[in-house]
Amino acid sequence: MQALVLAGGEGTRLRPLTYTTPKPVMPLAGRPFLTFMLDWAHSHGVDEVILSCGFMSDDVKRVLGDIYDGMRLRYVIEDEPLGTAGPVRRAFDEGLLDERLFVLNGDVLTDIDLTGELAQHEHTGARVTLALHPVDDTSSYGVVPTDSDGRVEAFLEKTEGDAPTNRINAGAYVLEREVVEAIPPGRAVSFERETFPALVGDGLYGFPAAGYWIDIGTPERYLEATWDLLAGRVGSRLPPRDETGSLVYEGCLLSGAHVGPQAVLGRHCSVGSDARVERSVLHDRVVVGADAAVVESVLATRVRVGANARVLPGAVVGAGAVVGEDATIGEGARVDPGVEIEPGARVEAGDFVKAPEAAR
Ligand code: GDD
Ligand code: MG
Repeated sequence: MQALVLAGGEGTRLRPLTYTTPKPVMPLAGRPFLTFMLDWAHSHGVDEVILSCGFMSDDVKRVLGDIYDGMRLRYVIEDEPLGTAGPVRRAFDEGLLDERLFVLNGDVLTDIDLTGELAQHEHTGARVTLALHPVDDTSSYGVVPTDSDGRVEAFLEKTEGDAPTNRINAGAYVLEREVVEAIPPGRAVSFERETFPALVGDGLYGFPAAGYWIDIGTPERYLEATWDLLAGRVGSRLPPRDETGSLVYEGCLLSGAHVGPQAVLGRHCSVGSDARVERSVLHDRVVVGADAAVVESVLATRVRVGANARVLPGAVVGAGAVVGEDATIGEGARVDPGVEIEPGARVEAGDFVKAPEAAR
């Protein structure tokens, strides 16, 4: 079985992280994100994956290569964004697609049962089957009410107001070729706004998926996914966690530091004495000075946090940025790659400190 993974979005909600690393290969608990999805797809019989890339596609190719755990990886690269359905049509036009395939949003960490979804698809004779997952707040998703036989009654992409159901589009579809052939060629097309609404009542089914599911596309959810992985709430091939529920990769220096609970330290990080790193993610080669505190934050590769500085919950600091001694990065603040925050300075909660465009 083939899977096409949509991995060409710009990941705007994960900026500044996605200025330097595209979302598909963003380290999650120390591994390129898509490797979790590839493991999941493989466990449901997928043996060939087409990666649909655009934004920073070279980085995705460089990290993942042409073969992953025995699965062939092929790339379809777009110069201009083709949306979500356009890339599938493009892959079809390039002669890459079989009769039937999975199409997967490239930013979901999940263990939902693709095998069961495929079985239901065959049983109902659907043209498209969408995996549906229940969430508390439906506002940032596609809401998909169905009848008791699973027939989709409406596809409501990010609409305001009361939702008719809490089941949302989980971004995992089974598609028949006739549907791919009907996608208009040569332009951006949205499954969610064009293809699926047009298929309501015409072979579009929902599959009520059980299990773990999260879209990692915002800093809050990226951290939540990290904690869930560390706690084993979703299966993975991660190494065992330490007694604080943390993952510390090779080459880290932590003498006298307090790391954990639920922290991830990438390769070759250093944390100074009496510094605290709690419920946070440090990508590779991050340096945290003595007595500093980093709480519920994400620090991209090569960030340096000076002695006694504070990085408060929800903060995201871009690659190579420097937080001066005694400085504070307020809650939810973001700092662009390469920016230097002066010693003793304070970045207010929710601020986004920008670098000059050329410096990124
Ligand atoms: N190749 C390609 N080209 N991929 C794209 C493009 C594009 O132009 N635009 C977006 N993608 C990829 C993204 O990289 C991501 O993996 C996936 O398509 C979905 O795009 P998002 O931008 O993350 O969409 P969303 O999260 O707001 O909403 C979508 O996912 C929700 C579930 O997480 C929709 O499918 C919703 O209906 C759904 O509920
Ligand atoms: Mg998304």
